Amino acid sequence: MLSLSHISLTIGEHRILSDVSCSVDKGEIVGLIGPNGSGKTTLFNVISGFLAPTHGTVHLRGLDITCSSSSRRAQMGIGRVFQNFGIFREMTLEENVLVALEALPKADRTQRGNLRKIAGETLEMVGLQSHAKQKAGSLSGGQMRLLEIARTLMSGKEVFLLDEPTAGVSPKLTQQVADLILQLKKQGKTILVVEHDLPFISHVCDRVIVMDVGRVALTGKPDEVKKSKELRELYFGADPTT
Ligand SMILES: Nc1ncnc2c1ncn2[C@@H]1O[C@H](COP(=O)(O)OP(=O)(O)O)[C@@H](O)[C@H]1O
Ligand SMILES: [Mg+2]
Repeated sequence: MLSLSHISLTIGEHRILSDVSCSVDKGEIVGLIGPNGSGKTTLFNVISGFLAPTHGTVHLRGLDITCSSSSRRAQMGIGRVFQNFGIFREMTLEENVLVALEALPKADRTQRGNLRKIAGETLEMVGLQSHAKQKAGSLSGGQMRLLEIARTLMSGKEVFLLDEPTAGVSPKLTQQVADLILQLKKQGKTILVVEHDLPFISHVCDRVIVMDVGRVALTGKPDEVKKSKELRELYFGADPTT
């Protein structure tokens, strides 16, 4: 589905990514972990087209998209969830979802039928249906995060890039985010998720990629990675489960 080949990125004097190669299969959930500043968000920027790599290529379904704009990539099915970015606080939850639906190409919109009904179903999926008529500004940070994820989900995207979806989210909502990711997997969606919470990663991910100073340090199944000596060394003896 998504394949990165020998991606390097230098900004000014700083080499931020060095020869990163990895791929994600359709329907796979891959966790991206690593210490702060190891280049995870930058890699997402390269995948979504916000930053052009200095070297290397990005392929989506076998197509070279390295030079495609971020809006083109979004049209092609790459969805990025930003942290509480683009939520209209003065609008109701329902309106927030409708805005995303109305931004779809006309053919897609017509095909989907009753947008209000779909908006309702979307909110139900993240357990926010009882707040549908409430202003988004009244939600907690975690609920806003869920709304943002739900909205992106409605956009018909195939590949989701989630950057720390549980940051600042209560344990209960964290569980909801995990459930949502697993639901998406059932629908055959492909997901790359950056997360510090290792139990969360183990729960939802099929595979984990560990980054360190702009490189892929190791990759494997969550259990293998958790047990690895390299991971412990990366976190300099800190308990990686916290
Ligand atoms: N636009 C930029 N210009 C210069 N340095 C940047 C830029 N964006 C990120 N960096 C640097 O790149 C490194 C990786 O950052 P980032 O991808 O945000 O890491 P992570 O998401 O893993 O915490 C950091 O050292 C950061 O300071
Ligand atoms: Mg980051």
